[in-house]
Amino acid sequence: MPDGAPTLPRRDELRGVLEEVLRESLAYLDGLDERPVRSPGLEEAEARFDGELPEHGVGAAVALRELLDDGFEAATASSGPRFFHFVMGGVTPAALAADWLASVLDQIAYAWVASPLAARLERLALRWLADLFELPHRGGLLTTGATMANFTCLAAARQWWGERHGVDVAQRGIAGLPPMPVLTSGHVHASTVKALAMLGHGRDAARRFVADGTGRLDVDALAAALRALDGQPAILVANAGEVNAGDFDDIARLADLADAHDAWLHVDGAFGLFARLSPRTRALTEGVERADSVTSDGHKWLNVPYDCGFAFLAEGDRLPRVFAYDAAYLAQDDEERPVFGVRGPEGSRRARALAVWATLRAYGRAGHRALVEGHLDLAQRLARAVDAVDDLERLADVPLNIVCFRYAPPGVDAAELDALNTRLGEALLEDGRFYAGTTTHDGRVALRPALVNWRTRDEDVDGFVSVVRELGARVAAAT
Ligand SMILES: Cc1ncc(COP(=O)(O)O)c(C=O)c1O
Repeated sequence: MPDGAPTLPRRDELRGVLEEVLRESLAYLDGLDERPVRSPGLEEAEARFDGELPEHGVGAAVALRELLDDGFEAATASSGPRFFHFVMGGVTPAALAADWLASVLDQIAYAWVASPLAARLERLALRWLADLFELPHRGGLLTTGATMANFTCLAAARQWWGERHGVDVAQRGIAGLPPMPVLTSGHVHASTVKALAMLGHGRDAARRFVADGTGRLDVDALAAALRALDGQPAILVANAGEVNAGDFDDIARLADLADAHDAWLHVDGAFGLFARLSPRTRALTEGVERADSVTSDGHKWLNVPYDCGFAFLAEGDRLPRVFAYDAAYLAQDDEERPVFGVRGPEGSRRARALAVWATLRAYGRAGHRALVEGHLDLAQRLARAVDAVDDLERLADVPLNIVCFRYAPPGVDAAELDALNTRLGEALLEDGRFYAGTTTHDGRVALRPALVNWRTRDEDVDGFVSVVRELGARVAAAT
């Protein structure tokens, strides 16, 4: 028998915890521009979240106090201006406030009948996004991110491929069908490969046609492989913005091949699709408007909070044929009263559209274009700073927002540089003033800072270069 009565949620707890969270959140956000990405107390703070499930709860005020005390300390400042790891945007004020509202209203974005607000805003947000990206696509869905957008688009592509073989895959499955040809470049993102595994085709289904050590597309070899299929339907995956250096496949050429060979063209533009917003980079995406399906991400360059991605389909009615979800008690999908739960893998869905709609409404096309162009400028500034010193070596052109380079001080043997840069990458994360990740580019270990956060300023980029050189020298001296 437990002692005493259980602790239950109480209406009168609400104001206190929300006010406290607001007060502390504002203080956190006020300091975010100057805050190190990793606070020195991070490990101790996160380790304090431990222990057994309490039989009797402590109540909302105490629980939230613990979360506030250790949570800010244990969190990386990943929405701050000096987090250049992965490709992670910050959160615009409009998007943040709207996302809070999504929790306050706790709308399920499953169906119009459950939340007309979420369904209408999702339909509108998708229309605005298609307009922003100059896509003619009529079908679409908000997802948790580009991984699930790739999954959604490839499931749609697979349904089309099954139809070409006379099979409704959503109904019958893939048993008895031949292997599904998926042709792409070495730029293909791991999430596409994962999506193929989740769809039951296996990671090996992705065939990469690679012209050089950076993974660049060998389009002639891919065209030859398509010809060898001799009219069998295939899926082409074009990569708009790869993660090492922001390079692009020749999407228009792949669109021509898709037209000529009965292939479905899918474009992964998780962040690269945003190149369409600026006349300076738009040409990189030429041909994406001809794709059957397109993926992009909200929590990257749109600067809405995690999690948010976009799947765009050329055919308005393709997704419900793949993701149909029938039960007598569920609503029917139609354009007037959409049921997004039958257009994608998830039934229970957060109302992500509130944040997407709010940031587009707040800053408009021009604001988001200016944000993208600001990052293009910052990437060029970083590239110039790298080029200006003799201990840094840039390894790739900078077509977009990623600068791929390594620490390569004069006098260090070339054979040592990979190990040196690996240690530098570790030292950078431990130091915590800036975050950037390492990768292997054309066989060489490199840093690949990605610039997508609306808060990032010139001084952040300049400071990053100084810190990389300082830590590089320290790591080299310790070797
Ligand atoms: C090109 C590309 N595709 C897909 C993804 C997966 O995105 P998410 O983490 O939003 O699922 C990423 C993530 O960095 C990416 O860069």
